[in-house]
Amino acid sequence: MSSARDITPSAPIPQRTVVSSWGQNLSTSPVATFQSPPASLGGMLPRKSVPKILKPFNTQDIKILLLENVNQTGRDILTGQGYQVEALKTSLPEDQLIEKIREVHVIGIRSKTKLSEKVLSEAKNLLVIGCFCIGTNQVDLTYAARRGIAVFNSPFANSRSVAELVIAEIITLARQLGDRSIEMHRGTWNKVSAKCWEIRGKTLGIVGYGHIGSQLSVLAEAMGMNVIYYDVVTLMALGTARQVPSLENLLEEADFVTLHVPDLPETRNMISTAQLDRMKLGSYLINASRGTVVDIPALVKAMRSGHIAGAALDVYPNEPAGNGDYFTNNLNQWAEELRSLSNLILTPHIGGSTEEAQRAIGVEG
Ligand SMILES: NC(=O)c1ccc[n+]([C@@H]2O[C@H](COP(=O)([O-])OP(=O)(O)OC[C@H]3O[C@@H](n4cnc5c(N)ncnc54)[C@H](O)[C@@H]3O)[C@@H](O)[C@H]2O)c1
Repeated sequence: MSSARDITPSAPIPQRTVVSSWGQNLSTSPVATFQSPPASLGGMLPRKSVPKILKPFNTQDIKILLLENVNQTGRDILTGQGYQVEALKTSLPEDQLIEKIREVHVIGIRSKTKLSEKVLSEAKNLLVIGCFCIGTNQVDLTYAARRGIAVFNSPFANSRSVAELVIAEIITLARQLGDRSIEMHRGTWNKVSAKCWEIRGKTLGIVGYGHIGSQLSVLAEAMGMNVIYYDVVTLMALGTARQVPSLENLLEEADFVTLHVPDLPETRNMISTAQLDRMKLGSYLINASRGTVVDIPALVKAMRSGHIAGAALDVYPNEPAGNGDYFTNNLNQWAEELRSLSNLILTPHIGGSTEEAQRAIGVEG
């Protein structure tokens, strides 16, 4: 057997050189030689096609505005490539956003920045909107499409983080851990087992079996739960999970109901008084999807009556643009009543807020 050796091409491979506007070589990859079409096709083809001139751009001329504390990894990639990057920690009020967006070619946002038609119509140079998050409902997509502005998002980078949070919440609710912890912080020792449960053998009902719902399904089964799900689309079950034909079926059967649907007209107040009444006595509700999906005053009533034994909310109809003491009736008129309930976990939209998810979104975005 002959020994391995380098293969030397018999003819030199042609090299392509693209020169950018500032005189640097961009690519030297080999390129095929294009042959002229045979003369017999001459009559069928346009006589002279004018080749489209591709204009390389200088990254230093491109202005990028990143809002809402986009992850450092993403910022480093863009600055490393020579773009002009301005990064701000928060979103901006509409008037300031309009001022800033006039100049930029690219804007990177998360869920708080509203890019309405009014805002986008002021953006004379805008080419790209990067949503460093899952949802794109904060952007007027129809208007962006009309203006030829491309919109990107990062649909699965934080699915696992949300699924893990929900698993933690299921156990926390079943064992009333939030209440016990608050009591201990106040100095109260309250060792109870009444109405505290194992999750093994209980039924988890997942509404919306997409990226997050399906991840959660696998994790919950590994913890010994029975999983059922409802989705508008017929989807293959993972493991031994089972799709049920209607939301009502799911509500009647599940011990824990968790919501993972998008914000759509048909999902607004999807869980209200009628649906809460259908849920089992002493069952639990978790919402880490969008704040509009649950009718919160109806949930408050169902929890006060004891029909719902606990709930976890990560999202709200109105959420503040920055951190601070904002979770009051000024933000949502029921906020203070909600805050007074027992066995209720309230978190500030942190489902996808892990180092891993933010790094992945920063890189993908
Ligand atoms: N809390 C957070 O930090 C956080 C993080 C990421 C995503 N989210 C939210 O979680 C939700 C789910 O995200 P995902 O990535 O799994 O979305 P996805 O698009 O992958 O899945 C959504 C599923 O819901 C189904 N669905 C749509 N309308 C329905 C209806 N009326 N009834 C039943 N099912 C319906 C869809 O068919 C789909 O299977 C979204 O609202 C997203 O914005 C929240």
